[in-house]
Amino acid sequence: MKECKRIAVLFSGKGSNFSHIVKALHPDEAEVVVALTNNPAAGGIEVAKEAGIPLEIVDSKVYDSRKAFDREVVERLQRYAPDLTVLAGFMRILTPVFTENVKAVNLHPSLLPRHKGLHAIEKSYHDAHDTGGVSVHWVTSELDAGEIILQKEISKEGLTLEAYDRKIRQTEKEALVEAIRRVL
Ligand code: GAR
Repeated sequence: MKECKRIAVLFSGKGSNFSHIVKALHPDEAEVVVALTNNPAAGGIEVAKEAGIPLEIVDSKVYDSRKAFDREVVERLQRYAPDLTVLAGFMRILTPVFTENVKAVNLHPSLLPRHKGLHAIEKSYHDAHDTGGVSVHWVTSELDAGEIILQKEISKEGLTLEAYDRKIRQTEKEALVEAIRRVL
């Protein structure tokens, strides 16, 4: 990367992937110019506060429609002019209001196109394949379906569900940072 790029990170829950992005990239390689969550109780809020990263909370429960929520998110993001937006556990189905206005990548804990949507780790573990994995892809308005940027495959052999889950969560952090570096 030639110059320091500006990224926005969106999350809905614990924010462990957000936290890893902060540790690995912020602020020298890529500056996290804003963190945004749809969940006022998200654990990731603390990560943003500790790192002194500007935080936007857009509570999805108070919007009448997906479009109205997306409109507010797009408006808040545009104030920070990010070069790239990273969905790190942002558990929302997005409309074209978002996807046509925001250049974004998403992290998903399966080898897409397998197991789109919720509970992908459990579904991967219990499927007929010997391997599972993680994907980072471009965001489109079709859920978990945009072009793949990178995938990492994980063998399930000899792993309990808990051990497989741990391995996914470790590998997805590496994958996400690698993908961000690749596209910036
Ligand atoms: C991660 O496992 C991520 O892959 C998943 O949510 C978790 C967020 O964890 N994302 C999806 O399932 C997207 N469809 P975190 O809040 O600790 O980063």
